Amino acid sequence: VTTICVPDAEARDLLGELPAGVEVVTWDGTGPLPPGGTDVSLLVARYMGAMTADALTELPALRVIQLLSAGVEAWLDRVPDGVTLCNGRGVHGGSTAELAVAGMLSVLRELPRFRQAQREHDWVATDTDGLDGKRVLLLGAGDIGRRVGAAVEVFDAQTTFVARRVRPGVHGLGQLPDLLGEHDVVVVALPHTPETHGLVDAGFLAAMPDGALLVNVARGQIVDTDALLAELTAGRLHAFLDVTEPEPLPPDHPLWDAPNLVLTPHVGGGTHGWQRRAYRLVREQVTRFHNGQPLENVVTDGY
Ligand SMILES: NC(=O)c1ccc[n+]([C@@H]2O[C@H](COP(=O)([O-])OP(=O)(O)OC[C@H]3O[C@@H](n4cnc5c(N)ncnc54)[C@H](OP(=O)(O)O)[C@@H]3O)[C@@H](O)[C@H]2O)c1
Repeated sequence: VTTICVPDAEARDLLGELPAGVEVVTWDGTGPLPPGGTDVSLLVARYMGAMTADALTELPALRVIQLLSAGVEAWLDRVPDGVTLCNGRGVHGGSTAELAVAGMLSVLRELPRFRQAQREHDWVATDTDGLDGKRVLLLGAGDIGRRVGAAVEVFDAQTTFVARRVRPGVHGLGQLPDLLGEHDVVVVALPHTPETHGLVDAGFLAAMPDGALLVNVARGQIVDTDALLAELTAGRLHAFLDVTEPEPLPPDHPLWDAPNLVLTPHVGGGTHGWQRRAYRLVREQVTRFHNGQPLENVVTDGY
């Protein structure tokens, strides 16, 4: 028998039918551990909610923690020795890449201005920017980065990829100083790790050409908010942000009213039915684990 733990009854419903021999316990890390809890070997964590290290010590048989998010930073300091951490890579990548492209096009094609003109019943037919011939620098050549790259190429943009492992067609972070000045759009699709924290700082932004566009759908902590605010306010750069630092953005934060910015509240992955996609992955992982097969999405190198 394999005993797994899910955060609530809704999660149990979403899991659907599991292989014979898999028992399910419902517990979110608060309150007393329910019967069978000490047998739990695979834990499914609540979306974007980290369990305390103390709660995890209540699960002596734990071998695997499965997250529903691609980001893992909240868990890295508390995964017990000998426990494998798996993330939700693939669950949110398509929808997040889609939002990155939507936000990029919204800025380039000036949809907020046309929406304002619509409100005023004002037919202002002026030309706008577009993706044709644009040089798009993708920071991250993973699930999101690759999808955004493929999408913008359809509209005749040129793509350059930067990732952790240098390989044919993929540069390393060390080459950013040479690359930034040569690109009109920078898309941040990197995990938040010690190496990427604050990567997009004042110097990074200053190296982007006048009128360039920054897209961040990854994590707010990768971008220096004050430095970006200064560039937006000066009217030199444009941005589309789905993620900010802090989150949620306080009502009086200056980013809300920054010019040249389109902002969404961390909804990249949030298309209808994402929970079904997430629990399909969980069902597949549970089946692999129960059958002794290798797991997918194992977190190594902190992402
Ligand atoms: N807005 C949202 O709702 C939302 C939704 C999903 C994900 N996210 C965020 O987006 C991030 C990326 O997601 P994903 O699914 O595309 O992840 P992924 O498939 O794991 O790809 C991550 C990419 O980042 C690169 N990378 C990692 N560390 C790096 C470093 N220090 N320097 C340079 N490149 C580095 C990796 O390089 P290699 O190719 O060399 O491994 C890889 O290309 C997630 O970690 C999460 O924080 C946000």
